[in-house]
Amino acid sequence: MKKIVSLILTAVLLLTLAACGTAQNDEQSTSTNTKAPESTASTANGTGTDPENTAETGSEQTVSGDGKILVVYFSWSGNLDKMAHWVADETGGDLVRVTAKEAYPENYNDTADRAKKEKDDGLYPEINVDLTKEQMAQYDTVFFGFPVWWYDLPMSMWTFLESYDFSGKTVIPFFSHEGSSNGAGALPRVTELAKGANVRTDDALSIRGGSVASSERTVRDWVKGLNY
Ligand SMILES: Cc1cc2nc3c(=O)[nH]c(=O)nc-3n(C[C@H](O)[C@H](O)[C@H](O)COP(=O)(O)O)c2cc1C
Repeated sequence: MKKIVSLILTAVLLLTLAACGTAQNDEQSTSTNTKAPESTASTANGTGTDPENTAETGSEQTVSGDGKILVVYFSWSGNLDKMAHWVADETGGDLVRVTAKEAYPENYNDTADRAKKEKDDGLYPEINVDLTKEQMAQYDTVFFGFPVWWYDLPMSMWTFLESYDFSGKTVIPFFSHEGSSNGAGALPRVTELAKGANVRTDDALSIRGGSVASSERTVRDWVKGLNY
């Protein structure tokens, strides 16, 4: 009888150990599976900064050089802020926002009046921008984002373009509007003020303000389709 009991106990013990081993394996394969999509996602977004990820993204992205990328933008009511974040995420570039030192009023009419006066009188607002001339010199490609203001560039972006040396750089504009879908005078203005740059006006991205919130895919696809 003792032998039978001891045989049954041994069998139970062996079965328990075998079950534990299976559970552990399941856990391992689950954790491996959950990690994989994460790293794929960061590679697809081009946000990985370690050399391994960068090497992997090379075949998926259309980046043709290893030059540094800057994404610089101005935004009053938030549309360019959204677009610029998508562009920076898709390119892996550095994101810099330009603001006027004296902030524009929250009221639309007041901002419109001030912007009109600045344009009519050729007033260059002083700007806040976290970018030294030395830092700027390191960028080869500049994604340049702005809203159309009075059929032109906001004057703060005139100040920006005239504050740095653009020679030899490639500038790729993207903008938002409420009717001036071809940018009106803004694109020729970028070419005029970014002296010495190759401004790719034909490739500029234009999105109506009211459509920006639903245009993340459009913005990301635009970036992917550029050879830069
Ligand atoms: C002062 C001012 C002037 C504007 N002038 C124009 C214009 O001439 N043509 C146009 O299509 N949209 C014009 N707009 C609309 C903006 O370009 C549009 O709302 C844009 O999406 C705003 O971008 P943001 O949210 O990044 O500021 C103007 C907006 C403001 C505030």
